[in-house]
Amino acid sequence: MTYTSSTVRVPETAAVPRHVAVIMDGNGRWATARRLPRVAGHTKGVDAVRAIVEACARRGVEYLTLFAFSSENWRRPNEEVSFLMRLFVTALEREVGKMHANGIRMRVVGDLSMFEPRIQELVKRAEAKTAKNRGLTLTIAANYGGRWDILQAITKLNAERAATGQLDEPIEEAAFARHLAMAYAPEPDLFIRTGGEQRISNFLLWQLAYAELYFTDLFWPDFDAAALDAAIASYQTRERRFGRTSAQVEENVVPRDAADSLSY
Ligand code: FPP
Repeated sequence: MTYTSSTVRVPETAAVPRHVAVIMDGNGRWATARRLPRVAGHTKGVDAVRAIVEACARRGVEYLTLFAFSSENWRRPNEEVSFLMRLFVTALEREVGKMHANGIRMRVVGDLSMFEPRIQELVKRAEAKTAKNRGLTLTIAANYGGRWDILQAITKLNAERAATGQLDEPIEEAAFARHLAMAYAPEPDLFIRTGGEQRISNFLLWQLAYAELYFTDLFWPDFDAAALDAAIASYQTRERRFGRTSAQVEENVVPRDAADSLSY
């Protein structure tokens, strides 16, 4: 699958979202409510990750993208950041074998240069080991930010354009989006945020253009397969018009000008 822009071409949609993107919020509050240290919520959060990966694979979701650590999360207390890093290492060490056995392809997106070499090495190995798997593609966004992604894509694109003397040409979506960190995936169909807040928090800013948004008050450690089903059921009630009228959606009209445009 290659990236197809929802603003260039009306994408095909299905009852089960092909790509689900999640902001896993509320770990700290889950722990605090139980008089536990905040980090206990992150540990419990890993159990929820395991359950949701399995549930998505069973339901035929093709891409699951989880926001594990944002470029702004470095602002947290040092101990919490270190704990999250250790949790990431442990999860990579313990879970990758199991994921591989289940045909899951794993990818990590974000500026990994800020992470310890040991983490970078584990990520490289996990990606290489699972690269040829054809099941669910699980993407972990780590030290990721939507603005970082857009800027790194522009930087790469500009280098390419400078080399070919095309800096003054208008930029086409296709040329730009090829350099986004998740150019290997379709845009998210369904965006889920747990923990009660209703914001995007610098997640996949470009790619969420036409995602259906779903917010739940559940804290991430409590988000289970039934909660995922509720999110998918809500998704199934949405009419995805991509700028068209309801009548056009019913007749499945794919406007010629859009359909004839470049896809990539
Ligand atoms: C947000 O909850 C959660 C995070 C910043 C970290 C998410 C990490 C995990 C679920 C575990 C690690 C994941 C992997 C893939 C190994 P919060 O701390 O902001 O909660 P709060 O809003 O209640 O304070």
